[in-house]
Parts: sequence; structure tokens; C-alpha cells
Amino acid sequence: MSVDSSVLTFLRLDARSLDTRPPAPYLADREVHVWAVLLDAPAEVESHCWNWLSPTEQERVRRLSFEHDRRHFVVAHGWLRHILARYCSQDPCHVPIINASGGKPQLSREMLRSCDVRFNLTHSNGRALLALARGFEVGVDLEEMRQAVQHLKLSERFFSRTEWETIKSCSEDRQREMFFRYWVGKESVMKAHGTGLLFPLDQCELAISDRLDEAVLRGCGRKTQEQKWISRFLDLNPGWVGAVAAEGTDWTMRYCG
Ligand SMILES: CC(C)(COP(=O)(O)OP(=O)(O)OC[C@H]1O[C@@H](n2cnc3c(N)ncnc32)[C@H](O)[C@@H]1OP(=O)(O)O)[C@@H](O)C(=O)NCCC(=O)NCCS
Repeated sequence: MSVDSSVLTFLRLDARSLDTRPPAPYLADREVHVWAVLLDAPAEVESHCWNWLSPTEQERVRRLSFEHDRRHFVVAHGWLRHILARYCSQDPCHVPIINASGGKPQLSREMLRSCDVRFNLTHSNGRALLALARGFEVGVDLEEMRQAVQHLKLSERFFSRTEWETIKSCSEDRQREMFFRYWVGKESVMKAHGTGLLFPLDQCELAISDRLDEAVLRGCGRKTQEQKWISRFLDLNPGWVGAVAAEGTDWTMRYCG
């Protein structure tokens, strides 16, 4: 079942929810589905998820130094496979995920011909978000607004003068939140684009709307100037900030769960 709700709820996984695979909610043209999950899960969930991972994914798990990172990776990637399986009518372990040239994970070309679903995953401190769309690229980013982050120093170093001045003009208790909005807004566009750190972020400027619900990316060199990237902020519990980005202004978001 899928629901539209004002605050995106992070699901707690149990083995039963992974045993069944109802068809995914209908993904309409120009719609982005957003799923959210907690990565701390019972042992049966982890073992289900582990069995669905590809040998390459299992190898990545083995290389992680910390137990909690290994467990979170297994659940995030197993859950990703479980959701993709529902959209593409496959078994989770047979969903063909490859990396595009910029490093962005996507379905194999062959799979895209029958199930043109684009996706993007983000995880932060025990939570993950997944955004999916049919036939157009999406990016998603999630951050916990940690107190330890030196938001003013980072803003001055990484953001444009206008962005930095906008943050500084906020009241002191809003500055941290604005910093994180700029961060996830840009990161979500960068992830939709798929080129990672090659994206010319230093030449771009994000304009956040007065209602704080979306942001438009301007600049970014000649090629991307013709493209209009929009990042929409998610309604999350206090302390968290997240955004989904895609090209154009005519797409809508739906929270699933
Ligand atoms: C790697 C990067 C894509 C995301 O990094 P991140 O914010 O640390 O991590 P997130 O949790 O949001 O996303 C990670 C997921 O994105 C996906 N991903 C990996 N490479 C990607 C790419 N080139 N494009 C889009 N998505 C990508 C993967 O599913 C990855 O999950 P995995 O590591 O478990 O396989 C990239 O944006 C990066 O290196 N950013 C560095 C931070 C930075 O300088 N940001 C500037 C913002 S102002």
C-alpha cells in the first residue's frame, strides 16, 4: 500500500515485510516515489538482505571496518533490491544493478528497456531514502543536522558569496538549518546528474524559495545552463533534512511506505 502523508515516515523493517513482494505502487509519468527506512533491523532482516546482495556488494561489506556500517550497508542495499524488485517484477537477487560512467548505480541497459526505472539511494546515521522515477534521472540526499558540523566555516569555504550571505542573514538558530538545506539541495542535484564530484558545483548557485520547500540551481557552466534542476525538500522529523532533485519543474513527489 502506498500513502501520501505530510511527514515522510522511516519504516522499521521486519522479516515478514521482506517475505512478501506486492506490486509496487503505480509510478506515473513525471512522478517521483520516495521510500524511507530505518537501517537498524532484526537479525532475520539482515540475513534476508545479505542473501540478496551481489558478490561485489558482499565484498564491499567485508571491506567496511565497523560492525554498524556493515549492518547498515547490508540492510540499505538489500532493501534497495527488495523495492526495485517490486517495481521491475524481478527477484531481489536478480535485479541487475550496474554503475554508470560517473559512478551512479542504475539498472542494466537491458533491464531499462523493459522497466525504465531510475533510482537513487542515500543513507545517513542509520536512515536511508530511496527515490525512483520512470524515464528520468533523480537524485536524493539525506543529512542529520549534527551539532558538531562547523556550518559557518563550511558555508564560507564551499558555497557562493550569495549563498553564504543568505545563511549569515538568518537568525543564529536558523543558520545551521539553512546550511544543511543548501548542502542537501546541491548534493541531490549532483546525484541526479550522476557525475559525482566532477559536477561544477563551484560555478553553481542554489536559490531556495521563501517557503523553504524547493530550490532552483542556477549557473553550472554552459551545457547545464540550459537545464533547470529543481531540488525539493522533504518533510522529515526535526533534526533531519533531505531533498530530491530532478530536471525540470513539472514533476511531483509521492511518499510511499
Ligand atoms: C558519492 C556521492 C555521490 C554521495 O556521497 P554521500 O552524500 O556521502 O552519500 P549518500 O548517502 O548521499 O549517497 C551514497 C549513495 O549514492 C549512490 N551513488 C554513488 N555514486 C553516485 C553518483 N556518482 N551519482 C549518484 N549517486 C551515486 C550510491 O547508491 C551510494 O550508496 P552506497 O555508497 O551505499 O553504494 C558524491 O556526491 C560525493 O562524493 N559527495 C561528497 C560530498 C560533497 O562534497 N558534497 C558537496 C555538497 S555542497
